[in-house]
Amino acid sequence: MALKDDLKGYWQVAKNTQYLLSYLGLSNRFKRTQDFTYDTYTEFFSRDTKKLKRVKQRLARINNQFITTTTLALENEFIKAHAQAISSVLGTEATGAKLLEVGGGYGRTIFPLSCIFPQADFYALEYTAQGPEAAKKYLEEGLSEIQGVAGSFKAEAAQNHPRFIEFRQGDGKAIHYGDKEFDVSYTNLVLEQIPEPADHERIMAEMLRVTRKASCFLEPWHDAQDLITLGFLNHNDYFRAKSEVLYRIGFKKVTFIPLGFQHNLRFKLGYVIAEV
Ligand SMILES: C[S@@+](CC[C@H](N)C(=O)[O-])C[C@H]1O[C@@H](n2cnc3c(N)ncnc32)[C@H](O)[C@@H]1O
Repeated sequence: MALKDDLKGYWQVAKNTQYLLSYLGLSNRFKRTQDFTYDTYTEFFSRDTKKLKRVKQRLARINNQFITTTTLALENEFIKAHAQAISSVLGTEATGAKLLEVGGGYGRTIFPLSCIFPQADFYALEYTAQGPEAAKKYLEEGLSEIQGVAGSFKAEAAQNHPRFIEFRQGDGKAIHYGDKEFDVSYTNLVLEQIPEPADHERIMAEMLRVTRKASCFLEPWHDAQDLITLGFLNHNDYFRAKSEVLYRIGFKKVTFIPLGFQHNLRFKLGYVIAEV
């Protein structure tokens, strides 16, 4: 099994060299657009929520070893990274805090986080109209999965029901909330989908505007990549900015935290806490 996993892993890496070639200007690039993102996610969130269940086996590299794991297990790692960051900024319970997820999708991140921090209020804005619809269904049909993910971080959280959450359609480039309304704002794999560097900066600047303490970003930051993974991001026109860009936007202190796992073998993730 281990040998099979290793061979599959090396095959993926070999495939990724075409992305490296593109990075070096030797093959064609795939250009991403916001319309492409909108259509892809509208289609994805229109699926039966039972099909969204993330038990599909996939290959990942964790601590430099190829392993076969479920998408869900990788997502537990995302939740852990956010929960640790939220605790570090707002205290272990985040009591009375108000948090905003930008690009909330169908809620797979915000719902478990709201079980982990039942004393805080979570809000989400999502680009597609379909995301908030799918989130309503996911909360009803996927409750045990949500609680299971929350419980993987903190056992007691598996007993909690996500509290009231406002889940609205909106664009991160023009956030429809007032200045300093939230203690923390965060993204989970959202900037990666947006093609234009100017748009990343508009979203980051909007997050700074509505936030009192810190904005957090789990994204494929340039700081986390090697040459091959950077080649992939470049080839597919994924977000790949250096985290220091946040200083230019006006954040005061930026902390980059490398995560010990690689998403889909195609790119590495980094966690950034940008203090206001
Ligand atoms: C990879 S999904 C991640 C969803 C969610 N954060 C999660 O972890 O499940 C990317 C999400 O970003 C959203 N998105 C893309 N462009 C956006 C924008 N300009 N404003 C807000 N959300 C956006 C997409 O519609 C999609 O839901």
